[in-house]
Amino acid sequence: MLEQIANELENLKKEATSAIEAAGSTAELAELDIKYLGRKGSFAAYMSRMKDLSNEERPSFGKIVNEAKTAVSTALSDRRIALLVAEDTAKLKKDRIDVTLPGRFASVGSIHPTSAALKEISDIFLRLGFTIEEGPDVEDEWHNFDALNIPDTHPARDVQDTFFVKSPKEVAESGNKILMRTHTSPVQARTMEKQQPPIRFIAPGRVYRNERIDASHYTIFHQIEGLYVDKNVTFAQLKGTLMNFAKIYYGPQASIRLRPGFFPFTEPSAEVDITCTVCGGKGCSVCKGTGWVEVLGAGMVHPNVFKAAGYTDPDITGYAFGLGVERLAILKYRIDDIRLFYDNDIRFLEQFI
Ligand code: PHE
Repeated sequence: MLEQIANELENLKKEATSAIEAAGSTAELAELDIKYLGRKGSFAAYMSRMKDLSNEERPSFGKIVNEAKTAVSTALSDRRIALLVAEDTAKLKKDRIDVTLPGRFASVGSIHPTSAALKEISDIFLRLGFTIEEGPDVEDEWHNFDALNIPDTHPARDVQDTFFVKSPKEVAESGNKILMRTHTSPVQARTMEKQQPPIRFIAPGRVYRNERIDASHYTIFHQIEGLYVDKNVTFAQLKGTLMNFAKIYYGPQASIRLRPGFFPFTEPSAEVDITCTVCGGKGCSVCKGTGWVEVLGAGMVHPNVFKAAGYTDPDITGYAFGLGVERLAILKYRIDDIRLFYDNDIRFLEQFI
């Protein structure tokens, strides 16, 4: 009887240990634990057979059952450890962080080069004692043309250059044409009609022209107007201010050159060139080999402009200038196409972070 039980137990042990070896997870192991060693498990069932045995046989029976049970329980805990390690390793492998991967960057906004140039240029004139004035983008022809001594026959008044806002019928009815300002000079007229000298301001803003678009022309661009009106303002002061500006904006090696020019609202008038910063004045495609780039118009305020503003004091003189913001920025950042300022191509804008 005892021998038969010992054989059965040996088989049970083999069956249990090979099931344990084959278990693929700790969850499976827990089930085997219950099946063999649990309160209603295979080994517990054997203990109930104790009563069929004689008193002499019982101690030996106890011993072999216990040995088999211990073997199964050792196999269980060994396998449990092995599985835990394997499960842990697999998890670590799955969760592994590759520290050599490149980081993911959040894209950061940047100041548009036009805004940056407007601010930087304005700041220089603020340091030179100018204040800031503003005027409307939608102007009337009085401020854009008449008050600035631009005669009716001037080609700039032609629809070729100016965007008119009103239809020809509305114009015929009202008499006063409404247009997108073609320059920032109307701010001169608007400021002088409400303020008495001394006046010293700049007027940064957007201007509009009906141009054919190409690498150096766009229908929208920015200007900064400057006006200084006081007793005995001189052309030398104008030149000094512009020279100062050029050196602060481009560096001490930059210079300016004045050529005779014509604007109806200034007399005398000058076209002002700045040393080509792309080639340092040696000559390149940007300056067309001359070493100079035209960036602004300037001159002494024309008496007719003072007249239109209602200024009568004969000692009052003034200078005015209007500079092209994109042109100055093009030279500073070496950009070769004005359209880039308006395309808003992210690859272009990202370079100005
Ligand atoms: N308003 C002129 C232009 O648009 C520039 C300018 C301003 C010239 C002031 C002289 C004085 O070209």
